[in-house]
Amino acid sequence: MKLKTRDYQPEDFKEVAALWEATGMGGEFRGDDRQVIDRSIQVGGKLLILEDEHTHKLIGTSWMTMDGRRIYLHHFGISPAFQGKGFSKQLLKASLAFAKKTGLQLKLEVHRDNIIARELYIKAGFKYLGDYDVYIIRNYENL
Ligand SMILES: CC(C)(COP(=O)(O)OP(=O)(O)OC[C@H]1O[C@@H](n2cnc3c(N)ncnc32)[C@H](O)[C@@H]1OP(=O)(O)O)[C@@H](O)C(=O)NCCC(=O)NCCS
Repeated sequence: MKLKTRDYQPEDFKEVAALWEATGMGGEFRGDDRQVIDRSIQVGGKLLILEDEHTHKLIGTSWMTMDGRRIYLHHFGISPAFQGKGFSKQLLKASLAFAKKTGLQLKLEVHRDNIIARELYIKAGFKYLGDYDVYIIRNYENL
């Protein structure tokens, strides 16, 4: 199986959203719709697609957003049927190459129990930042 990485195109959205659901990275509550993806790319981010070169089936995604100071890695995932075959390394390599080109530091959040992802990131050179808690405001209705 030959895989290639390429940039996200708007027509990928449905398949991308399905992969995010299947890997537990999706959900409307996270607000990751077409507009958010497009905007993140307009302001310097990138959504990389890993696909089968022959069938064009979507195998993985890596979404990098940028805030002008850092690049953040989100929604890094491989379709469940294709996990455990080493494919994530090709996608991570392409993601690191993009981040390197921006010259900005690359940051990510990963759940403590996600041993596979943690191993992958540490092997790739990410360093643990310490026991920070992570907070978010998902809606502003009560403010
Ligand atoms: C995390 C994820 C992308 C890794 O992809 P994968 O296809 O499962 O893993 P790969 O076969 O490509 O293996 C890559 C590396 O992951 C680590 N890894 C894979 N399986 C592992 C296991 N069972 N135990 C520990 N580490 C493991 C290893 O470091 C491995 O590299 P190595 O083979 O050189 O040792 C994938 O499991 C996934 O999509 N998970 C669901 C979404 C997710 O949690 N994403 C991360 C959000 S922060």
